[in-house]
Amino acid sequence: MPDKPVSKDRELERIGVAIDRSLLDKFDELIARRGYANRSEAFRDLIRAELVGDTASQPHGLVTGTITLLYDHHVRMVGEKLTALQHHYHRQILSTLHLHLDHDNCLEVIVVKGEAAGVRQLADKLIAERGVKHGRLVLSGTGPEF
Ligand code: NI
Repeated sequence: MPDKPVSKDRELERIGVAIDRSLLDKFDELIARRGYANRSEAFRDLIRAELVGDTASQPHGLVTGTITLLYDHHVRMVGEKLTALQHHYHRQILSTLHLHLDHDNCLEVIVVKGEAAGVRQLADKLIAERGVKHGRLVLSGTGPEF
Protein backbone atom coordinates (compact mmCIF):
# COMPACT_ATOMS: atom_id res chain seq x y z
CA MET A 1 0.00 0.00 0.00
CA PRO A 2 1.52 3.36 -0.97
CA ASP A 3 2.39 5.76 1.82
CA LYS A 4 -0.01 8.64 2.21
CA PRO A 5 1.71 11.83 1.08
CA VAL A 6 2.87 13.87 4.06
CA SER A 7 1.86 17.52 3.85
CA LYS A 8 4.71 19.98 4.29
CA ASP A 9 3.51 21.22 7.67
CA ARG A 10 3.36 17.61 8.96
CA GLU A 11 7.04 16.92 8.20
CA LEU A 12 9.11 16.45 11.32
CA GLU A 13 11.86 18.99 11.82
CA ARG A 14 14.66 18.17 14.24
CA ILE A 15 15.94 21.04 16.36
CA GLY A 16 18.68 21.33 18.96
CA VAL A 17 17.95 23.23 22.15
CA ALA A 18 20.64 24.40 24.56
CA ILE A 19 19.36 24.23 28.12
CA ASP A 20 20.84 24.32 31.64
CA ARG A 21 21.45 20.86 33.08
CA SER A 22 19.51 21.65 36.27
CA LEU A 23 16.54 23.01 34.34
CA LEU A 24 16.52 19.96 32.10
CA ASP A 25 16.66 17.66 35.16
CA LYS A 26 13.60 19.37 36.60
CA PHE A 27 11.83 19.12 33.26
CA ASP A 28 12.64 15.40 33.01
CA GLU A 29 11.27 14.82 36.52
CA LEU A 30 8.10 16.70 35.66
CA ILE A 31 7.43 14.87 32.41
CA ALA A 32 8.20 11.49 34.02
CA ARG A 33 5.61 12.24 36.72
CA ARG A 34 3.10 13.19 34.05
CA GLY A 35 3.77 10.02 32.11
CA TYR A 36 5.37 11.37 28.94
CA ALA A 37 7.21 8.71 26.95
CA ASN A 38 9.80 11.21 25.74
CA ARG A 39 10.86 14.87 25.78
CA SER A 40 9.71 15.51 22.23
CA GLU A 41 6.06 14.85 23.00
CA ALA A 42 6.31 16.98 26.17
CA PHE A 43 7.89 19.85 24.21
CA ARG A 44 5.21 19.65 21.53
CA ASP A 45 2.47 19.82 24.18
CA LEU A 46 4.13 22.81 25.85
CA ILE A 47 4.31 24.62 22.53
CA ARG A 48 0.66 23.83 21.75
CA ALA A 49 -0.37 25.03 25.21
CA GLU A 50 1.42 28.35 24.60
CA LEU A 51 -0.20 28.69 21.17
CA VAL A 52 -3.67 28.01 22.61
CA GLY A 53 -2.99 30.51 25.38
CA ASP A 54 -1.93 33.12 22.87
CA THR A 55 -5.01 32.55 20.69
CA ALA A 56 -7.28 32.64 23.74
CA SER A 57 -5.74 35.95 24.83
CA GLN A 58 -6.80 37.61 21.58
CA PRO A 59 -10.46 38.76 21.51
CA HIS A 60 -11.07 37.37 18.01
CA GLY A 61 -9.03 34.20 18.50
CA LEU A 62 -11.06 31.08 17.66
CA VAL A 63 -11.33 28.60 20.51
CA THR A 64 -13.26 25.57 21.66
CA GLY A 65 -13.70 24.70 25.30
CA THR A 66 -15.87 23.82 28.22
CA ILE A 67 -17.48 25.77 31.02
CA THR A 68 -18.02 23.66 34.14
CA LEU A 69 -20.51 24.89 36.72
CA LEU A 70 -21.39 23.48 40.11
CA TYR A 71 -24.52 25.07 41.53
CA ASP A 72 -27.28 24.68 44.08
CA HIS A 73 -30.55 24.54 42.18
CA HIS A 74 -32.51 25.60 45.29
CA VAL A 75 -31.14 29.14 45.03
CA ARG A 76 -33.96 31.25 43.72
CA MET A 77 -34.13 31.52 39.89
CA VAL A 78 -30.61 30.21 39.35
CA GLY A 79 -31.72 27.57 36.85
CA GLU A 80 -33.79 30.09 34.90
CA LYS A 81 -30.96 32.62 34.87
CA LEU A 82 -28.39 30.12 33.66
CA THR A 83 -30.76 28.93 30.94
CA ALA A 84 -31.57 32.49 29.83
CA LEU A 85 -27.85 33.30 29.53
CA GLN A 86 -27.27 30.17 27.47
CA HIS A 87 -30.09 31.12 25.11
CA HIS A 88 -28.59 34.59 24.74
CA TYR A 89 -25.22 33.05 23.83
CA HIS A 90 -26.64 30.12 21.81
CA ARG A 91 -24.27 30.79 18.90
CA GLN A 92 -21.30 30.01 21.13
CA ILE A 93 -22.79 26.84 22.67
CA LEU A 94 -22.51 23.44 21.01
CA SER A 95 -23.95 21.29 23.79
CA THR A 96 -24.81 21.27 27.47
CA LEU A 97 -24.62 18.32 29.84
CA HIS A 98 -26.59 18.55 33.07
CA LEU A 99 -26.17 16.13 35.97
CA HIS A 100 -28.29 16.14 39.14
CA LEU A 101 -25.42 15.26 41.51
CA ASP A 102 -27.49 14.94 44.67
CA HIS A 103 -30.55 16.51 46.31
CA ASP A 104 -29.11 20.05 46.09
CA ASN A 105 -26.27 20.16 43.59
CA CYS A 106 -26.19 20.29 39.83
CA LEU A 107 -23.14 19.91 37.62
CA GLU A 108 -23.35 21.52 34.22
CA VAL A 109 -20.74 21.19 31.47
CA ILE A 110 -21.25 23.54 28.56
CA VAL A 111 -19.26 22.93 25.38
CA VAL A 112 -18.42 26.19 23.67
CA LYS A 113 -16.88 27.34 20.39
CA GLY A 114 -16.27 30.80 19.02
CA GLU A 115 -14.25 33.95 19.47
CA ALA A 116 -12.39 33.99 22.77
CA ALA A 117 -13.91 37.26 24.00
CA GLY A 118 -17.50 36.06 23.61
CA VAL A 119 -16.84 32.67 25.16
CA ARG A 120 -15.04 34.28 28.10
CA GLN A 121 -17.88 36.77 28.59
CA LEU A 122 -20.41 33.94 28.72
CA ALA A 123 -18.29 32.01 31.23
CA ASP A 124 -17.82 35.07 33.45
CA LYS A 125 -21.56 35.79 33.52
CA LEU A 126 -22.51 32.17 34.29
CA ILE A 127 -19.91 31.80 37.03
CA ALA A 128 -20.92 35.11 38.64
CA GLU A 129 -24.58 34.05 39.04
CA ARG A 130 -25.78 33.64 42.62
CA GLY A 131 -26.03 29.95 43.47
CA VAL A 132 -23.05 28.96 41.32
CA LYS A 133 -20.59 27.61 43.89
CA HIS A 134 -17.73 26.84 41.53
CA GLY A 135 -17.06 27.44 37.87
CA ARG A 136 -14.19 27.12 35.44
CA LEU A 137 -13.60 27.87 31.78
CA VAL A 138 -11.13 25.59 30.00
CA LEU A 139 -10.13 26.68 26.51
CA SER A 140 -8.55 24.67 23.74
CA GLY A 141 -7.78 25.21 20.09
CA THR A 142 -10.09 24.32 17.24
CA GLY A 143 -7.88 21.51 15.91
CA PRO A 144 -6.53 22.18 12.41
CA GLU A 145 -3.93 24.67 13.66
CA PHE A 146 -1.97 21.78 15.21
NI1 NI B 1 -29.89 19.37 38.37
